[in-house]
Amino acid sequence: MSGKPTIAIDGPAASGKTVVGKELASRLKSRFLDTGNMYRAVTWAALDRNIGLKDEYALQELAETIEIRLVVNSGSDRLLVDSRDVTDLLRRLEIDRGVSDVSAVSGVRRAMVPQQRAVADQGPIVMVGRDIGTVVLPDAKVKVFLMASSQVRAQRRHRENLEKGITTDLRQVSIDLKLRDTQDTERADSPLRPADDALEIDTDSLSVEEVVALIMERVERI
Ligand code: CDP
Repeated sequence: MSGKPTIAIDGPAASGKTVVGKELASRLKSRFLDTGNMYRAVTWAALDRNIGLKDEYALQELAETIEIRLVVNSGSDRLLVDSRDVTDLLRRLEIDRGVSDVSAVSGVRRAMVPQQRAVADQGPIVMVGRDIGTVVLPDAKVKVFLMASSQVRAQRRHRENLEKGITTDLRQVSIDLKLRDTQDTERADSPLRPADDALEIDTDSLSVEEVVALIMERVERI
């Protein structure tokens, strides 16, 4: 194809969206946005301000008022909430456990989605999340839905945690992932599901390289 396509990648927790999306963006020299970090940032701000994660009105107001800024540095992207760099706090257990409650609030989504579309309006991008192909960028030229069994995903997340120096219990990681999947899939607003025209890839027995190659094949065909 001529030019770079907009690529939407969705899938459940730890299905490999971020690592695959970043690699694709680097190959295509496109930008990359992990929308999950935006919902994590709202969750961080809510916990920081002692806002109850069931208080939909306060969460909506919070999402509408905080400024989330992404600073792209060479090598490491940083996420700032009202000028505070919270990048290294977003993967904490309390955020993992609260984020699905926060992201299910329609008022929170109404504050985030236009910001995500505004980023996409600035040019070619690889955007990853739960509702990118279905809601945020329904006209994306390439849509991908990554899947993997819950055991494989729990092992991946467990390993990632260990690499970051976070000690977690594999059984607990698995329980937390399943809970988040259920919440993300069953919520009323923008539930996690593949777009009708998404390329669905089961990544259980595929390397990152192999997943990227499958998506690149699709990119080259459009
Ligand atoms: O990295 P991981 O797959 O574990 O999660 P994430 O992509 O950082 O997303 C964290 C949470 O944000 C998800 O469990 C969803 O509840 C929410 N999310 C969403 O609702 N919509 C998106 N576009 C992205 C994330």
